[in-house]
Amino acid sequence: MSQKEQVIIFDTTLRDGEQSPGASMNIEEKLRIAHQLERLNVDVMEAGFPIASDGDFEAVKKIAQTIKGAQIAGLSRSNDLDIDRAWEALKYAGERGRIHTFIATSDIHMKYKLKMSEQQVLDTAVAAVTRAAGYTPNVEFSAEDAVRTKLPFLAKVIEAVIDAGANTVNIPDTVGYTIPSEYYDIISYLKKNVSNIDKAIISVHCHNDLGLAVANSLAAVQAGARQLECTINGIGERAGNCSLEEAVMTLRTRQDIMPFTHNIVTEQISPSSKLLSTITGIMVQPNKAIVGTNAFAHEAGIHQHGVLMDKSTYEIMTPESVGLNQNKLVLGKHSGRHAFIDRLKQLGYDLNKDEIQKSFVRFKTLADMKKEIFDEDLDAIVADEILRVPETYKLQQMNVSSGSFAAPTATVEMEVNGKMKKIAVIGDGPVDAAFKAIKKLTKSKDGLLDFTVGSITGGTDAQGECTVRLRSEDGREVLGQGAHPDIIVASAKAYINALNKIASNKKRVQMNF
Ligand code: KIV
Ligand code: ZN
Repeated sequence: MSQKEQVIIFDTTLRDGEQSPGASMNIEEKLRIAHQLERLNVDVMEAGFPIASDGDFEAVKKIAQTIKGAQIAGLSRSNDLDIDRAWEALKYAGERGRIHTFIATSDIHMKYKLKMSEQQVLDTAVAAVTRAAGYTPNVEFSAEDAVRTKLPFLAKVIEAVIDAGANTVNIPDTVGYTIPSEYYDIISYLKKNVSNIDKAIISVHCHNDLGLAVANSLAAVQAGARQLECTINGIGERAGNCSLEEAVMTLRTRQDIMPFTHNIVTEQISPSSKLLSTITGIMVQPNKAIVGTNAFAHEAGIHQHGVLMDKSTYEIMTPESVGLNQNKLVLGKHSGRHAFIDRLKQLGYDLNKDEIQKSFVRFKTLADMKKEIFDEDLDAIVADEILRVPETYKLQQMNVSSGSFAAPTATVEMEVNGKMKKIAVIGDGPVDAAFKAIKKLTKSKDGLLDFTVGSITGGTDAQGECTVRLRSEDGREVLGQGAHPDIIVASAKAYINALNKIASNKKRVQMNF
């Protein structure tokens, strides 16, 4: 019997994923995701783009120093400065450090963006890979916009960079343009026309502009690609990247026609998805494959009947296989510390003593207000108490009066850069009054783009969950989240969370490439 071949899972949540509007993370948050990716057992994690900012550099360095097991990749353009900076951060991972260097190869990009000829691009790519290979044998080269590149030129570049020392060659669909059969043909063409292709792993990296990123990636695997670049929840530039959970679960579910192995611990998929949503504030749609709240819900009577008779009638994979525990243990007022810690562990949170204590106090306060505490409540507690960015602004207390007679008035007390401040403001409604008060106290000039309200669980005693989207003065979008049984307090917390993210992001420089 022939041995199954392995598909290497390269996660780029912390690099391409972080380029999604509103998804920027600080070092502490990136490190938490990195630890979760370690539990998920990805083969390679792309930790960032070290030259992009000091924050990115520090995050890649910290991840290279801390994470054991997975290879750590850092992105660099094809120039000496980028490559040197990338290795400076990656060197702490030793032989697990991977320099990922790229340059665009399509006519459109060469003409309008790079203003370079084919020969110049070829020489630059070879020089970059040669320099990177001087630091490490673990070098990945990406031909940006490969899908719109003339195939003979693409083959020439790929052959030259393999000769120069690249051991992984990535063929990205940068703009999410291809379809499965075309992408299959591109990979097949390279296998046939690049004489040294057997000396490198072919990697694929698909964007989801036409909703085909997963399908395209899997078609490429069928054609011979053996590394799949993807992100948790499919986050990434514009419409996002190939979703890790969808690609991996397809490989697992369709072994009959895709007989490949991978190293992912699929039971860690749901905790990874939730942690990312909590940290970034970007929720997945309810009907999202694998990780949406409806992904395993059977609503129609005929489906429910079938599933009760035999799960395989309508279920092609089990919720447990992606880490969804169907018997949610409900905690309450009388639940002890042990049950609480145990549940947090099952939800994938690895908290230290201090963090457990903080969360436990908050849990007890919530349990006094609300009879039953669900997993989603615990997620919100951890998000609020632990995963928040450093607090430049802190809500101390607030009181809002409103109704059909009174002018809505909010009295808000906050700590602003360590100083206590208080104000009372009238608004068009209670949320408007609260937001105006916060805006005045923080002197914020950031614009409110969007405000949504939901409830974390069912029932009138459910915690309210609010998301606020702001545009910062430098034009970036930031999401803030807040949860509380009082919906106005939840709104204020979400607004303040977004302001804190803007404050902590201020030092980061946006890189365009
Ligand atoms: O989409 C893309 O082409 C990229 C490269 C830098 C790999 O993200
Ligand atoms: Zn990309």
